[in-house]
Amino acid sequence: MFRSRRLHLIVVLLAASVAAAESMSDQAIESKVNALIQKMTLEEKAGQLTQMGLTPESLELARQGRVGSFLGVLGAKQVNDAQHAVMEHSRLKIPLLFGYDVIHGYRTVFPVPLASTGSFDMPLLEQAERIAAKEATASGVKWVFAPMVDIARDPRWGRIVEGVGEDPYLGSQVASAKVRGFQGKNMADPDRVVACAKHYVAYGAVEGGRDYNTVDISERLLREVYLPPFHAAVQAGVGTLMSSFNDLNGMPGVANHHTLTDILRNEWHFDGFVISDWGAVHELLAHGTAADDTHAALDAVKAGVDMDMVDGAYQSIPQLVKSGKLPMSVVDEAVRRVLRVKFRAGLFDHPYADPAREATDILAPESRETARRLAQESMVLLENKGDLLPLKKTQTIAVIGPLADDKGSQLGPWAGDGQAKDAVTPLEGIVAKLGKEHVLYAKGVDIPPFERGVGAGVVAPAPPSATGVAGEESGKPANIDDAVQAASKADLAVVFAGELAGMTGEASSRATLDLPGDQRKLIDAVVATGKPVVLVLESGRPLDISWAPAQVPAILQAWFPGVEAGHAIADLLFGDVSPSGRLAVSWPQYVGQIPVYYNHNNTGRPTAPDRWHTGYLDMSGEPLYPFGYGLSYTKFTYRNVKAEFIPAKTASAGAKHQGTVQVSAEIGNSGNREATEVVQLYVHDRVAPTSRPVRELKGFERVTLRPGESKTVSFRVKENDLGSYDPQMRWIVPSGTYDVWVAPDSAHGVQGTFEVK
Ligand code: NOJ
Repeated sequence: MFRSRRLHLIVVLLAASVAAAESMSDQAIESKVNALIQKMTLEEKAGQLTQMGLTPESLELARQGRVGSFLGVLGAKQVNDAQHAVMEHSRLKIPLLFGYDVIHGYRTVFPVPLASTGSFDMPLLEQAERIAAKEATASGVKWVFAPMVDIARDPRWGRIVEGVGEDPYLGSQVASAKVRGFQGKNMADPDRVVACAKHYVAYGAVEGGRDYNTVDISERLLREVYLPPFHAAVQAGVGTLMSSFNDLNGMPGVANHHTLTDILRNEWHFDGFVISDWGAVHELLAHGTAADDTHAALDAVKAGVDMDMVDGAYQSIPQLVKSGKLPMSVVDEAVRRVLRVKFRAGLFDHPYADPAREATDILAPESRETARRLAQESMVLLENKGDLLPLKKTQTIAVIGPLADDKGSQLGPWAGDGQAKDAVTPLEGIVAKLGKEHVLYAKGVDIPPFERGVGAGVVAPAPPSATGVAGEESGKPANIDDAVQAASKADLAVVFAGELAGMTGEASSRATLDLPGDQRKLIDAVVATGKPVVLVLESGRPLDISWAPAQVPAILQAWFPGVEAGHAIADLLFGDVSPSGRLAVSWPQYVGQIPVYYNHNNTGRPTAPDRWHTGYLDMSGEPLYPFGYGLSYTKFTYRNVKAEFIPAKTASAGAKHQGTVQVSAEIGNSGNREATEVVQLYVHDRVAPTSRPVRELKGFERVTLRPGESKTVSFRVKENDLGSYDPQMRWIVPSGTYDVWVAPDSAHGVQGTFEVK
């Protein structure tokens, strides 16, 4: 076993180094691309700019060199069959690029991105995407439509689950880590993929949280909040970007020359390619900026969208060129970008997938281990009164709720090629820790799916797993009485409530954030038994649970944890691991407060205990839990903050803002168990030409401390990163006093100051 593993490792390393050695220099790629463009007909050029789904008709077009990419083709055999058709029959033998949505894992499904962002663990996120890339390529997928790096401040928006939360700094760190994880040093390596940062841009700012909706925001908000994660992805070398569905200040994402060309190409010098989102070129007709598909194609390609996803609009490119409306140089540039990425991805040398890898590289035990760790680090302990958690392994526990044994929902939405049967449910995880004789299970209620645009519908019972614990009867309708009985017989109850996986994600926005169906009634009934209750929430967004802290002593936000859900939840519940995940979004008290986010500007009448101005008559303006928040099983202390600005030694001409700020604080573990703290650094510029956010995250570090141990945690922030845009939209770093906090979350911490001179 060991020998064959080692042999496998050597083969993999050899293959990787061969691929790396084979990877071409930029110059060699450019001359090959140009030589190829010389040979291409207009139809072949349009073909490279066209992505389609695989059908007999599209395969025939591919044989003629009139398709550049397929999406949604999975499995080495299927991919290779289509690739063979092109490599053997097309005139120029330009390989296809196969793309797929690998948002939080391919077959080994990791926690949903909003959750894993809250791990603040960049090396682990990188490792997860490395695994996703390995599995995807084993299945023939060389291009992933990820990372999704949309900032969102509105949990009604269903796609908040796929993104990086509300903070541009954290979002940027995640974007870079994920691009590195997917692409590695060389995207031509056989187990790496081309990444695609999406959805460019400001899709998370859709009005009212309604999907695909209008976005109308200032250039400042665009540049300071929504663009940074994309810029970070570009700086990390991302191969492609996907334009967004929404219009931005009146200009649809797919036809927005300002974002696609002025910023992306001219300011950031991105030289990969941009693909439209699904059918979005055609949607210019509905947006009302194009009269027909030909017009739409003209606007999109001229704005800077190089490849069209599925609507076939770019088939009109030859006609547009022949009629003189579209310069050939624009088409050639788009083709150049697509071919450049295909060369960088090594497709011309290695167009085929290796079918042998499907058996070894998909859902490997080590990959599941990583999924378990990332799930442990992503969950957020919201409440733990009287230290109810961690639970003792000697107790009898009632495991209750509609999500306790629902395999599919553990994976969450957009779960790649994830399969419900691979998922460990919370019930299974708890049984694995306790033994089934200590577990009583009752589903209690079902979660009725929403009837789109109306409300909760009727539910069909989902098949449970087969743990054989008392109380569980396959096919029996859910019943609150059973839950009450189970809780009454047990020492305590753990209730698993929340949303079904399909209640977040694309086109799954919600106007309310309540627990759907009768779940609150279920919780009330279990609480009424008088037994201690732990509430574990699974959802893709913060839910309205402002009533819950008064009802239940312990609340763990588990999100959708992925394939190892049950094990990771049980690890935390029983204290094998102390929770360390943090909220990547502020958690509103009530839906009417939205948007509520930590990095807002001050008003002229800032919030203070004796002030009635801010917030609402019937509620404060503060969230239930702030950004960055999360409890642990130990207590951490923060003290002795020091901050100092160190100017640049030589301020050479053109080298502005080259100083650094050094900040440190002493973090101690005053509890009685080892645990990890996410130490956060926030900054506020006191006086600037424009009003600045009350705090902005500028650094973080995961620190593990034994009981009684303390450590000085240090941060360095580049002077330039303290800056902001002045009223004329020039980047400046104002001199003067800055506040700094070293903090456990965005609302607390020890404060210091420094002077930028
Ligand atoms: C539409 C989604 O908006 C996008 O995120 C996804 O990559 C494409 N469909 C392809 O599935």
